[in-house]
Amino acid sequence: MYRTKTCGELRMSNVGEIVTLAGWVQRTRKMGGMTFVDLRDRYGITQIVFNNEVDAALCEKANQLGREFVIQIKGQVAERSNKNAKMPTGDIEIIASELTVLSPSITPPFTIEDVSDGGDDLRMKYRYLDLRRSVVRRNLELRHNMAILVRNFLDAKDFIEVETPILIGSTPEGARDFVVPSRMNPGQFYALPQSPQTLKQLLMVAGFDRYFQIAKCFRDEDLRADRQPEFTQIDCEMSFVDQEDVIEIFEDLARHLFKEVRGVELPAKLQQMTWHEAMRLYGSDKPDLRFGMTFVEVMDVMKKGKFSVFDDAAYIGGICVPGCADYTRKQLDQLTDFVKRPQVGAKGLVYVKYNADGTIKSSVDKFYDQNDLLELKQAMGANDGDLVLILSGDNANKTRVQLCSLRLEMGERLGLRDKDKFECLWIVDFPLFEWSDEEQRLMATHHPFTMPNPDDIPLLDTHPEQVRAKAYDFVCNGIEVGGGSLRIHDGELQAKMFKILGFTPEQAMAQFGFLINAFKFGAPPHAGLAFGFDRFVSIMAGLDSIRDCIAFPKNNSGRDVMLDAPSPIAQAQLDELYLNVDEARVKALGK
Ligand code: AMO
Repeated sequence: MYRTKTCGELRMSNVGEIVTLAGWVQRTRKMGGMTFVDLRDRYGITQIVFNNEVDAALCEKANQLGREFVIQIKGQVAERSNKNAKMPTGDIEIIASELTVLSPSITPPFTIEDVSDGGDDLRMKYRYLDLRRSVVRRNLELRHNMAILVRNFLDAKDFIEVETPILIGSTPEGARDFVVPSRMNPGQFYALPQSPQTLKQLLMVAGFDRYFQIAKCFRDEDLRADRQPEFTQIDCEMSFVDQEDVIEIFEDLARHLFKEVRGVELPAKLQQMTWHEAMRLYGSDKPDLRFGMTFVEVMDVMKKGKFSVFDDAAYIGGICVPGCADYTRKQLDQLTDFVKRPQVGAKGLVYVKYNADGTIKSSVDKFYDQNDLLELKQAMGANDGDLVLILSGDNANKTRVQLCSLRLEMGERLGLRDKDKFECLWIVDFPLFEWSDEEQRLMATHHPFTMPNPDDIPLLDTHPEQVRAKAYDFVCNGIEVGGGSLRIHDGELQAKMFKILGFTPEQAMAQFGFLINAFKFGAPPHAGLAFGFDRFVSIMAGLDSIRDCIAFPKNNSGRDVMLDAPSPIAQAQLDELYLNVDEARVKALGK
């Protein structure tokens, strides 16, 4: 037996026992005639003691150990004279009588401690060492536990897990596909699923009724802290249900996870906010409700023919930041710089300080008198001591999005985005379509199979941009954790959708013929939802990036720096696939 115990389990009750442990050398310390080794495995750390006076040769062997050597030791559990209350095993130590080096280690490129001296890139390159750190390991353990909770919860509700293929055709989630060339079908390509969307709908046609899958999805899109090119969904679909049925069951799942993982009770019924309301009050379809500072539109108050910037604006809105009237010039300049950053894109920021002593100081004192600013104070619901920040612009939605960035920044600065607080809600009544400046056409906000709100169907022909979707997103702390919709199961309505989206019947048939045909054989009304599993785990773990709960993530350029992927392939492999790389174009990119 390599070991009789793990490095995390020995306590005072084991004192006197002879045990064998195996693990990694976290660190060694020499003190007088003693050598102490912290031995680490997945379960914890145990202190091992080598006494020079008892066995000089063994102690000398211990002195030769380096960080991350894999060793096996045998010895007797003893009570420690110098107890360490911070460690579960801190009351005991092992007096070693045998030591075997199972595998030496070269010096690791960074320290394997909770707070490591390794930078991001280095830790990604040696991810297998990074994963030895307990902070990272704990995230993967949490991920595992959540997967088990999800499976058990859904199993108990009659969902069955079905694996869908990875090598498929294009799926309609709106990002770019990753494609895989087919050797057996020269010149043809598979696409990796952006989600199992169409396949799960086919499972409903097949009568499976309640499906789920912890599914790998692939999207070739720009990466951010909450986006990876390869990620995981808790993907679900149900037949014979309405929007409220789906919301109820997945709200229950979320409630179960929060309770089991964090001991947090979500409210008995989560708030449902319409997309329009979310945009009006927060400038975002994923509002962070952990703090207030909701938007107030102040067009009427500020448009007085006094300040041309406001007079010409299509939207003027503000937030009231409680207790910040004492912001200094420097702090206000920083905020102005913040909103002017290209990522935010505002032209400028107007501030009004309602000082605690009742005086008012603003960046528009030249244009507005005290009465105007008192009117604004009332409109904003501001009190003495508050700071009002206002943005304006010629495009209402764009300006709201800028004000949203400012609101989140203020929430951050004031420490209001507490990672141990959870505010979840549903966003409903999304617009069915959104206008794409890039493509100069209406695009499906979610995907082309989303059911329009039945009340709005007459608008499909006249004002498609006003049609609401039977779609819903699950949002937590300003992050879109999940989304889903009722699906169209009627061929005629589906054909109309494709037409509005600019597909000819032939194009629609070429891309989605399999689904259109399947729906001719008796498609049940169905609906579904997918949670982003990585996002869900990272919210539970309080992480800033989903990378930290993925065993082997990609970096921001979509690279796996450990595997050095993607990388060129051999000419023979390209030949076999009938592919040529356009070297001149690649060179021109300078990559
Ligand atoms: P959607 O595209 O909204 O819906 O995706 C569902 C959830 O998946 C997560 N997600 C991501 N997580 C990490 N990295 C990414 N690149 C990424 N993209 C999406 C988000 C998101 O809420 N088929 C539909 C679901 C349905 O209608 O049933 C779909 O995929 O948390």
